[in-house]
Amino acid sequence: MTITTAGTTAADIAFHYDLGNDFYALWLDETLAYTAARWDGIPPGEPDATALPRAQRAKLDHHLDLVGARPGDGLRLLDVGCGWGAMLAHAGRDGRIAHATGLTISRAQYDFLTARALPGTETRLESWEDHAPERPYDAVVSMGAFEHFATAGMDRAERLDVYSRYFEACHRWLRPSGRMSLQCIAYDGAADGSGPIGDFVGADVFPSAKLPRLSEIAAACDPYFSVVALTASADDYVRTLASWSARLLRARVEAERLVGPEGYRRYRRYLRASEVTFLRGAATLYRIGFRRRDEPLRLSA
Ligand SMILES: C[S@@+](CC[C@H](N)C(=O)[O-])C[C@H]1O[C@@H](n2cnc3c(N)ncnc32)[C@H](O)[C@@H]1O
Repeated sequence: MTITTAGTTAADIAFHYDLGNDFYALWLDETLAYTAARWDGIPPGEPDATALPRAQRAKLDHHLDLVGARPGDGLRLLDVGCGWGAMLAHAGRDGRIAHATGLTISRAQYDFLTARALPGTETRLESWEDHAPERPYDAVVSMGAFEHFATAGMDRAERLDVYSRYFEACHRWLRPSGRMSLQCIAYDGAADGSGPIGDFVGADVFPSAKLPRLSEIAAACDPYFSVVALTASADDYVRTLASWSARLLRARVEAERLVGPEGYRRYRRYLRASEVTFLRGAATLYRIGFRRRDEPLRLSA
């Protein structure tokens, strides 16, 4: 089956995400979340072994709060870009979510999740552009996927077109008054990703991904959604990346066995380069909560 997308191609997704589930499991925590955790209230001195999973679960709960899912609600949830299933595994725990569908365009993640067979979940090897649910969802979450929806070759108008199509699709998938959350890295102090760090990450780690700016997200969502919450925290990514780096360093021997010394060095450099990007304020992390508008607004250009 061929997956076509306007964003990061399935081949480029495979270059990064299909390096090996075992490799990622070495340095991610037990939730297998591969996006920034939420560190509010977690003291810097807490041992990494408990701090990172606690911060990841706090992030997952925060997204369930953003979509208004309360214990026992039993909602139908869509997770766009579900990775190795952190949200799919977490969402049903206290009955907030009765059924969760996850989309990924990584074959390795899809195979991993199919074998994991989490109760009350369905995983689809499908781009959001092709998703056509039989019934509306109560809620949509997406963490760390929006960065893949546009590519480095697109100009601002082309990016806005893709982002608008994404929000239009979410509007179509959701029931009236449905809620949505988005977690996304975006440029902040840097106008774009040019420069040595951006070149390295673009060429060697995340080929053909392109970060948005907040102004682009705001313009694209406005006809379809009301923004009900927005937080920015570069620090959440700094702490998460530092934790992943430390874990990868501790797992060096096994990591080199799985991906070779060059693969290990490339990931160490990428995690450090990403940390510096957030420390310098070139990029930040947004978490945004949205409420579906009943009818799309016709806004003048
Ligand atoms: C950084 S991972 C985040 C995974 C997960 N949300 C988490 O927090 O651990 C990005 C995910 O986005 C998915 N993705 C990228 N482009 C996509 C697209 N066009 N449609 C659906 N999923 C996509 C990838 O397959 C991957 O699962």
